[in-house]
Amino acid sequence: MKILCLGRLPQDLEEKLSALAPIEFIDRTTALPDAQLIAAMQGKSVILTEPQDDLNEKVIAAAADLKMIAQRAVGYDNINLPFCSQRNILVSNTPGVLDNATADLAFALLLACGRRIVEADSYVRGGQWTGFENDLLLGTEISGKTMGIVGMGRIGYAMAKRCHGFGLKIIYSRSGDQGCSDSEIKTDDKDHMLATEMNAQRVSLETLLKNSNFVSVHCLLSKATTELIGHKEFALMPPDCIFINTARGKIVDEQALADAIFTNKIKAAGLDVFYSEPEVHKLLLAAPNVVLAPHIGSATAETRHAMANLAVTAVVQAFQEQTKPPNLLNAEIWTDWQKS
Ligand code: GLV
Repeated sequence: MKILCLGRLPQDLEEKLSALAPIEFIDRTTALPDAQLIAAMQGKSVILTEPQDDLNEKVIAAAADLKMIAQRAVGYDNINLPFCSQRNILVSNTPGVLDNATADLAFALLLACGRRIVEADSYVRGGQWTGFENDLLLGTEISGKTMGIVGMGRIGYAMAKRCHGFGLKIIYSRSGDQGCSDSEIKTDDKDHMLATEMNAQRVSLETLLKNSNFVSVHCLLSKATTELIGHKEFALMPPDCIFINTARGKIVDEQALADAIFTNKIKAAGLDVFYSEPEVHKLLLAAPNVVLAPHIGSATAETRHAMANLAVTAVVQAFQEQTKPPNLLNAEIWTDWQKS
């Protein structure tokens, strides 16, 4: 058996994985062309991937020896999961270990936008500062405002806890609520827990957009959430709205966001993800009220190590220990997979 690892691994995890099988590493920052990926996957039983890798049907179909994809990310929109299941290929991801790091970055972007930290830094470095001024670089008060969280999974919840700690009122919408009115939403135990714990209220996306001073996106990218936030949605937001996206770029119509910023329909945006990474819309690059980060939501040393560890451990569990990894995305094929 052989393993293909896209990207680097920490030394200790490389040692752990190479005890199972030899590893070929390919370092890349953008998706390899299909043909190159297909060639590299020949003879490999396992591939370790990241969000930029394109594991489409053509690539998977051409990887005759492939038995497992271990994705080093929680999002897995880059992998054709139904096709993997059809081909009896296990797919794992890294849930749970990156919630705090990602929510920290989302909140940092909110603070950076609200308090104009990047503008302030450039102001000082640019030698423009002449002394204390009462109305210099006035920002937006964070406490006491309403945060609308789109997607209340683990990362949405970690964001909610931060918002609660900062004295924000929280409203949120959950996946499946798209197109629902407030009265059509059926709340469950999780909603009751959120209401009790932090007085957070589940609402329709429309109500959320109309009533939030800040909107932060934390849902998975899927067919249903592709361009979920577009012209119509930006038009619903109040003009003082700060928009944060640390989930996936394709959840947002980037032209609509650029238009909303450029025409002052919203106040500011903090973005860690983009429609076509690493490309960034020209208008967003030029706007001083947009804070940009290069997809670093989970990029702390501790979290990136924990993610790699989850991925490597899942491979070792499946192949060496023959125990079902807890982080499989298609656990339903486990019994058939073991027999094959
Ligand atoms: C990173 O983008 C992830 O999905 O974990």
